[in-house]
Amino acid sequence: MRQLQDLPVSTAAAPSPTHDPADYRKALGCFATGVTVVTARHEGQDWAMTCNSFSSVSLEPRLVLWSIRRESGSHAAFTRSGGFTVSVLAQPQQALARQFASGPMAQRFAGVPVRRLASDRLRLEGVAAWFDCDLHQLVEAGDHHIVIGAVRDFGWSEEPALGFYRSKFGGFAAA
Ligand SMILES: Cc1cc2nc3c(=O)[nH]c(=O)nc-3n(C[C@H](O)[C@H](O)[C@H](O)COP(=O)(O)O)c2cc1C
Repeated sequence: MRQLQDLPVSTAAAPSPTHDPADYRKALGCFATGVTVVTARHEGQDWAMTCNSFSSVSLEPRLVLWSIRRESGSHAAFTRSGGFTVSVLAQPQQALARQFASGPMAQRFAGVPVRRLASDRLRLEGVAAWFDCDLHQLVEAGDHHIVIGAVRDFGWSEEPALGFYRSKFGGFAAA
């Protein structure tokens, strides 16, 4: 049987000369995702940003991941504070997806109903689901860091989730 370490691993990160970045982004945008707001508590301040790279990694133990741009102003907060909380936005929360994607931190939280967790981090109210995580591992990956968290607490509701597809927000039609 082939062992995991025998499997070929592509380490080449050579840029493709045949595709321009905008074209590449359009291709990536064909993969529909949900939308989350990730929060952290760092040096006495609350931090938050919109994120759609969230994904489940492992059920046992419970691990999730997302990726953060190295140049992000929130990078230190999310990589050095020891944990993060993921709020999975509900369909009526599209405005929050935009609100948490830019601007000063204090303004991002303006008027947003939140709850402070035992971890001292904030989670948004009215969300489809939330995951409060201890930082488990950081992986360098190009111009991003993959942030892996161990889920210490979570919750979910019947709220339909907000979707993101081809650069537009929307909903998911039930099958
Ligand atoms: C729908 C959507 C999804 C996003 N997903 C990510 C993501 O997964 N990782 C990331 O680093 N930035 C992502 N961003 C961009 C960040 O939200 C934005 O750059 C960040 O809030 C800026 O925060 P800063 O001022 O702390 O750098 C996303 C933005 C939007 C609108």
